[in-house]
Amino acid sequence: MTRVLSCIQPTGDVHLGNYLGALRNWVAGQHEKDVYHGIVDLHALTVTTQPNVVGEATLSLAAMLFAIGLDPNVATIFVQSHVPEHSQLGWVMECTVSFGELSRMTQFKEKSARREADFVSAGLFTYPALQAADIVLYDADEVPVGDDQRQHIEITRDIAIRFNSRFGDTFVVPAAVTPTAGARVMDLQAPTSKMSKSSDTDSGCVYMLDDPKAIEKKFKRAVTDSEAVVAYDLKEKPGVSNLLDILSAASGTPVATLADQYSQYGPLKSDAASAVISMLEPIQARYHELMDDQAELARLLAVGADRAREQASATLSRAYRAIGLLSN
Ligand code: TRP
Repeated sequence: MTRVLSCIQPTGDVHLGNYLGALRNWVAGQHEKDVYHGIVDLHALTVTTQPNVVGEATLSLAAMLFAIGLDPNVATIFVQSHVPEHSQLGWVMECTVSFGELSRMTQFKEKSARREADFVSAGLFTYPALQAADIVLYDADEVPVGDDQRQHIEITRDIAIRFNSRFGDTFVVPAAVTPTAGARVMDLQAPTSKMSKSSDTDSGCVYMLDDPKAIEKKFKRAVTDSEAVVAYDLKEKPGVSNLLDILSAASGTPVATLADQYSQYGPLKSDAASAVISMLEPIQARYHELMDDQAELARLLAVGADRAREQASATLSRAYRAIGLLSN
């Protein structure tokens, strides 16, 4: 069966764009392929300077992944730092990639430039080596990624190929694949930009844990246009189209049907809000249940860590053996 790996950093709260655009497909995908999902807390360390932040965010993200329906008995859901082989193979990967290759990574150049006055950790620079370890440890055939991560998969392939040619065939060379298309969810206040937590204010971003009142308010204030015609037209009517896309994704009704059903923005907004509220209700309930039962959450994560370690330790041994490190 095809082995798929995708990872997510525990930074910031999960929002509707993450869910409808990607995470919801993880849930459907768990039954189609052999999927591994890592919460990559060690990657978050590249920009962490405060204590107790990453662990909290990791726990919350884990609860959310289970709450949306990822089943720990079907998919392997694990926390990166619970599987020490990531750090161990990460070093091997650092020694298999060149300074020049890492220097050419667009994401490093952008991130380090953006942090100009801030601390730029060496980890930010070597980040792709750790990511390569994440991937090859699981013999992943496929890594579903957006365009921003393509270069990281390319460098992973280069590293795996180089290692295999130096030390003998050891790693599966992964392929970047385009994730199953989810809904495109735009910022409610700036409907030509993707919904994201980095917007200046939160008013255009609906978080998975927002309460019904907050969700209603955000939809009520959503930016539309002055035409007063409900139609799906991404170019001319991005705000209205976004509301239709969200309502469609939350209710399962096709966009074209919805566009015919509404003639005014008010009812469209309030129905989109209601559909999102009912979609999120059971997810929020399960999330809070898990957050209130940390022993159960820890148990679920241990199931994933055990399965992940079994695979990861076998791959690490294979790599050490291929290099010919003295065994103990
Ligand atoms: N770099 C990825 C991101 O920022 C996160 C990530 C870390 C990842 N390791 C991975 C993604 C392995 C896919 C596979 O989104």
